[in-house]
Amino acid sequence: MKPSLQFFLAGFLLLILQTGLCYGIKWIGLSKTPLALTLNQTQHCKQLEGLVVSQVQLCRSNLELMQTIIQAAREVIKTCRKTFSDMRWNCSSIELAPNYLLDLERGTRESAFVYALSAAAISHTIARACTTGDLPGCSCGPIPGETPGPGYRWGGCADNLNYGLIMGSKFSDAPMKMKKSGSQANKLMHLHNSEVGRQVLKASLEMKCKCHGVSGSCSIKTCWKGLQELQDIALDLKNKYLSATKVVHRPMGTRKYLVPKDIDIRPVKETELIYLQSSPDFCMKNEKVGSHGTQDRQCNKTSNGSDSCDLMCCGRGYNPYMDKVVERCHCKYHWCCYVTCKKCERTVERYVCK
Ligand SMILES: *[C@@H]1O[C@H](CO)[C@@H](O)[C@H](O)[C@H]1NC(C)=O
Ligand SMILES: *[C@@H]1O[C@H](CO)[C@@H](O)[C@H](O)[C@H]1NC(C)=O
Ligand SMILES: *[C@@H]1O[C@H](CO)[C@@H](O)[C@H](O)[C@H]1NC(C)=O
Ligand SMILES: *[C@@H]1O[C@H](CO)[C@@H](O)[C@H](O)[C@H]1NC(C)=O
Repeated sequence: MKPSLQFFLAGFLLLILQTGLCYGIKWIGLSKTPLALTLNQTQHCKQLEGLVVSQVQLCRSNLELMQTIIQAAREVIKTCRKTFSDMRWNCSSIELAPNYLLDLERGTRESAFVYALSAAAISHTIARACTTGDLPGCSCGPIPGETPGPGYRWGGCADNLNYGLIMGSKFSDAPMKMKKSGSQANKLMHLHNSEVGRQVLKASLEMKCKCHGVSGSCSIKTCWKGLQELQDIALDLKNKYLSATKVVHRPMGTRKYLVPKDIDIRPVKETELIYLQSSPDFCMKNEKVGSHGTQDRQCNKTSNGSDSCDLMCCGRGYNPYMDKVVERCHCKYHWCCYVTCKKCERTVERYVCK
């Protein structure tokens, strides 16, 4: 074989291996939908970014859900960026959706987090939209079966978690249910991590109450089951990201399963995030492995967490610079009842990685 042909074939193989793995989170590209687009006709579905065929079909038959799903895509990006702002990998590449770089195209720990967060976010957003009356197909969640304790009664409007889980997983799992997309191992991993996201969402259901009674005396309370904020769910998932388990696809009996790589005597736990490919340390820029590096990233000299200059800059050191911050100052209370303040400028020292 001629070297050039060999090179071409190798490149082609690499392309097959690298694309088609992660159709699963391409729907985050819905975040790019123009705000002005009103989705009231089924032919609009084809214009949306990042959807696989079965998702376009779901769009056609559930048009009224699509605004909510677009909102969920925006929530995923916002929440992921916020949750990882103090880390070397800061989720900035999710903005490229639906055309990701290698950090999210491979079966990495980072993509495991994004799959889990996406699955949680879509069900969270739908469940909340039921509560606010934005969706014709659902309303408040059911009144809990358990009898209320002393001092409160059931009332209000519960988040419709069930409806959120059903419609959300139908949409976000659709790419992994396609016959032709990606390897079996990748699909299993993505489905597992999506399910972990939904587990954390389910576990976040908590009792929320409102007080009634004479001038807020709280002699009567009504309570309902509501979901925690997506940001809190993302923090739970970040902890799972930090302790994620590397797995391999291994035959056991007649089928192949994902099992932990190091201790393959136990099955994968339903509560842990799993990944197939190790990530780089994200210290240096290296596009071949999807690392943007941390040069010029801001770091915190007094923190001893992941945003400390030591960890963020990987020991390369850092450069100080002066930054101006504007604050409210010399505030005065005026009788009755307002406060006026002046604006003061203060310079602070900040640091960026070398
Ligand atoms: C869809 O929405 C647009 C903009 O609000 C409106 O002009 C159009 O008549 C609507 N079409 C249908 C079929 O409801
Ligand atoms: C996130 O990381 C990228 C790549 O290192 C960097 O360009 C970007 O400024 C970072 N964003 C924030 C908000 O720190
Ligand atoms: C740096 O970290 C310290 C300790 O965690 C924190 O109190 C401070 O607000 C941080 N500073 C900045 C600029 O983020
Ligand atoms: C910094 O590290 C010390 C010792 O490892 C720990 O006790 C302390 O809580 C840490 N502080 C912060 C702000 O993380």
